[in-house]
Amino acid sequence: MNRGTRSAADGTGHESARRVRVELGERSYDVHIGSGVRELLAEHVARLGASRAVVVSARPAGLVPDPGVPYRLIEAADGEAHKTLATVGALCRQFADAGLGREDVVVSCGGGTTTDTVGLAAALYHRGVPVIHLPTSLLAQVDASTGGKTAVNLPEGKNLVGTYWQPKAVLCDTDYLRTLPERERLNGYGEIARCHFIGAGDLRGLSTVEQITASVRRKAQIVSADERDTGPRHLLNYGHTLAHALETETGFGLRHGEAVAVGTVFAGRLAGALGRIGRARVDEHLDVVRHYGLPWRLPRGADVDALIGLMRLDKKASGSAPGRLAFVLDGPSGAELVRDVPEEAVRDCLAEMPRD
Ligand code: GLY
Repeated sequence: MNRGTRSAADGTGHESARRVRVELGERSYDVHIGSGVRELLAEHVARLGASRAVVVSARPAGLVPDPGVPYRLIEAADGEAHKTLATVGALCRQFADAGLGREDVVVSCGGGTTTDTVGLAAALYHRGVPVIHLPTSLLAQVDASTGGKTAVNLPEGKNLVGTYWQPKAVLCDTDYLRTLPERERLNGYGEIARCHFIGAGDLRGLSTVEQITASVRRKAQIVSADERDTGPRHLLNYGHTLAHALETETGFGLRHGEAVAVGTVFAGRLAGALGRIGRARVDEHLDVVRHYGLPWRLPRGADVDALIGLMRLDKKASGSAPGRLAFVLDGPSGAELVRDVPEEAVRDCLAEMPRD
């Protein structure tokens, strides 16, 4: 068993369900994965001793399980456009209007933008109320809902305002995935594909539940080792330096997982160009991304100078010298953060990327 986490059959009557423990001392919590695990909500709420709940949902009311205590349902909408401080303010006002206290609980039900925004509102309201996430997109189930990162966007950039606020439980109900449009389902595979290169192993050929479980297990290990993103947690950003730039450059025309897929292929090519990995491993990046049916070419209109300018703003690049950029790159001892990548090498590699 790897340090920091446990994974097991759920043991709660959901026989095919899986459970991954995120070990963070007294703030440890379980992530349940499988069909029907949303029905565990009332049990987790009861365990917290909450006497009321606010459920913020971007999904139809019929998909939200009963928290088992009196609750107010607040409708939300997924999407980067709603991931703002104004939304957080509006949520906190509705928490106050519902009479929510520090001993109560907030429940989020939606995609990653919803779990991020509701998580931040829960972290700020009364200086922190417990939150339980019910991620409904594959992307949110494999990544966003676990690990406690909460954030909203500013006009100046994505995820610029946020904090760490660990949930009390995460219920990844795979029934929700059946409701996803095909493009949104595929989007989640961007984060699963990048797991291949950060120590989760080859997840191709596994069932969806096992793919989610393996991705969450790897994330839980990393978060247990580095909750505040000062070291190994950077690994989770494999493929993300270019991905974030592409999302901004395309005005979010490219979805996060799609952008991570292109960024993963690019990270492989860049690691190859820098002599860190051989041809076969570079090609493996493309093979994995294509296996999941994800995009792998740069969008036709993407401007190399604009992308480099955006990548200079990446939080990981803050310790880099002028003319150098930071990427998480594969290498002889696995993936690691490399802070001194020459801008010229990045420019050349971008120029050589296939285009749509
Ligand atoms: N999504 C990357 C992280 O949680 O650190």
